[in-house]
Formats: sequence, C-alpha cells, structure tokens
Amino acid sequence: MNPPPFLIVAIDGGAASGKSSTARILAERFHLLHADTGSYYRALTAELIHRGVKATNPGAVRAELTDLKFGTQIVGHSADLKIHDDKVREADIRSPEVNSAVSHFAALPEVRSALLAYQRGLAEEARRHGFRGLVMEGRDIGSVIFPKADFRFFLHADPDARVRRRALEGQADAVAERDRLDSSRAASPFTCPVGAISIDSTHLPLTEVVERISRLLTSRLLSK
Ligand code: DC
Repeated sequence: MNPPPFLIVAIDGGAASGKSSTARILAERFHLLHADTGSYYRALTAELIHRGVKATNPGAVRAELTDLKFGTQIVGHSADLKIHDDKVREADIRSPEVNSAVSHFAALPEVRSALLAYQRGLAEEARRHGFRGLVMEGRDIGSVIFPKADFRFFLHADPDARVRRRALEGQADAVAERDRLDSSRAASPFTCPVGAISIDSTHLPLTEVVERISRLLTSRLLSK
C-alpha cells in the first residue's frame, strides 16, 4: 500500500472566525504541523514597534526588515516564529497596541514579502520533522501562499459573534475594523479564495466545524 499523502490544508478567515482553534485540533488529530500566520504578522509588528518604526514609514520598515533573521521553534504541533533566535512571547503579540497596528504593517508589500518564503518553507520543515502535512491559517493562504493546497477552507461568522468570542478570551479587538483594513489593502487582500470551501460558523459549534473538515481530510487519506 502507498504511504498516505502529505497534506497541505489552508484555512483562511477573519479575526476570531475560529480558524486557530480549528487548525490546532486538526493538527493534533491528523499529526499536521500547525502554522498560525497571524501570529507571525503580530510578532513582526511587535518587533517593528519595539524598534520604533511606524507603518506610515515604509522606507524605515524596509531598512529594519533587512536586518531580521527568522527561525522556527516546533513546540508540539505548533511552528512558532523566532526572530533572531528569540521565541516570541504570546503576551507581547496579543497586546492592544499590536491589535491596532498589525493590519497597517500587514498591508505593506515589504512586510508580506519578508514572510512569504518563510511561510512556504514550513511545508519542507513539516516533512523533515515527520509530520503528515501542514495546516496553515491566515488571510491569504489559499489565495497566495498555497493556492494549490490539497484543501482550502474559508471560515466566516457574523462580526457580533466574533466580538463575543474575543471578549470571552478576555480581549478587546475591533474585528470588523481589522477585517475592513485587511480586505481593502492592495497587497494580497483578505478574501475567500476562488474555489475554497466556505463554512459559516456563526451558529455552528467549533466541534461541528472540525468534524466537517475532518470528514473531508479522512476521506482523502483513505482514498489514496
Ligand atoms: O489571525 P490574526 O487575527 O491573529 O491576524 C492578525 C493580523 O495579521 C490580521 O489582522 C491581518 C494579518 N494577517 C495577514 O495579513 N495575513 C495573514 N496570512 C495572516 C494575518
């Protein structure tokens, strides 16, 4: 019998659409490497703020980016970004300051291209570490990073439901405003990739979202 295929699963969705929780569970269930690319944009934003650079000054951003070295630390199923060998702290990347600045930095083509090769390279990293695939979540995964992924999902939910989810996590986050900025930027705008499987999770519990996706992944694994 052939070995099971190496699966690339792309999950795109707006802020608090449930994509991180979904991706995390799928990673454990199917032994996939999990890449939360929103955390990479957040880490880069926190680093640039720390260096005193503003998103309104792309020249300064570009200059700082040439100096940055990215690495990966795999913790369980999670591929965490390291900048200059330093692991990024969760508290630093979920701060209100980063919440409000991240979409502005993420709109800059220089920031996006700084992360592009890194994100694609995680497929190889997953193979090297013996994972059965990669589940990557973000805003442009199915459209730009892995347009030929084995599966591309798009998760969405009403803004009110998403604000409530963030509040339950103890966070104040202007989800609709971030979605507006992320969707209207010129570089790799946040969009439902053409041909992606769209799931509305407004009234769907997380477990049901995971089950729907799991059934599709399982049938692909069994068909090979
Ligand atoms: O998933 P998140 O809410 O933590 O993402 C934070 C921000 O990062 C989001 O507002 C836009 C940006 N982002 C992006 O532009 N492209 C991605 N692939 C992932 C995140």
